[in-house]
Amino acid sequence: MRPQADKFVQQASHQDTAMPSVAGDWDEPADLTKPPATIPDLSSVDVPPELEREIREHMAKYPNKRSAALPALEAAQRVHGWCSPEAFRQVAAVMQVTPAYLSSLATFYDMLNTEPVGRHQVYVCTSVACNLRNAQALLEALQEAGEGYEDANIRGFECLGACDMAPMASIDNRYVGPIDPSEAPDVIAALKEGRPPLPGRGVNDEGFKLPWDKDGADA
Ligand code: FES
Repeated sequence: MRPQADKFVQQASHQDTAMPSVAGDWDEPADLTKPPATIPDLSSVDVPPELEREIREHMAKYPNKRSAALPALEAAQRVHGWCSPEAFRQVAAVMQVTPAYLSSLATFYDMLNTEPVGRHQVYVCTSVACNLRNAQALLEALQEAGEGYEDANIRGFECLGACDMAPMASIDNRYVGPIDPSEAPDVIAALKEGRPPLPGRGVNDEGFKLPWDKDGADA
């Protein structure tokens, strides 16, 4: 997970129309007249049992429970589709921290969505190795094929550490590649039909081989 630079850039661009100041207009000033944030009482929050179990498992791994905040938010995002106010409340109640603390983390990391996005996460690597193998065309082809399909969050991403599969994408956490732009409609059709896109092309799929490993060239 990495800091959410694109959000910062977007926010910074608002400064064009605002009075310059040290902090720009990134944040509303804190309202010091309000009572301090409170930690939700677990007994008053309806947390899905599976989610609570997973959050507690993460908390058990660390001496400081706050270290579990990112995996806990990721788990809540899986349940809710995004880090909604209710997701924050549920995680906060289990971890016994304030929702504001969790929100401050979630807005910093770009794999935690603080606005609704599609449930299918399609991250197309556009870093150097993939870019040299037509990644930009792949991204555009996927976005075009997925136009109007709001259940897919299709976006460019930095190197996903699978450069040997270039051009590749992480599709719902499954690393798939190499993908030709002409295969984009198949990928989107598979997502709509609930089947794994490009079977056999995921790095952990049975029999997975890169094109240059085939015909015994992998010895
Ligand atoms: S450059 Fe695409 S995975 Fe590394």
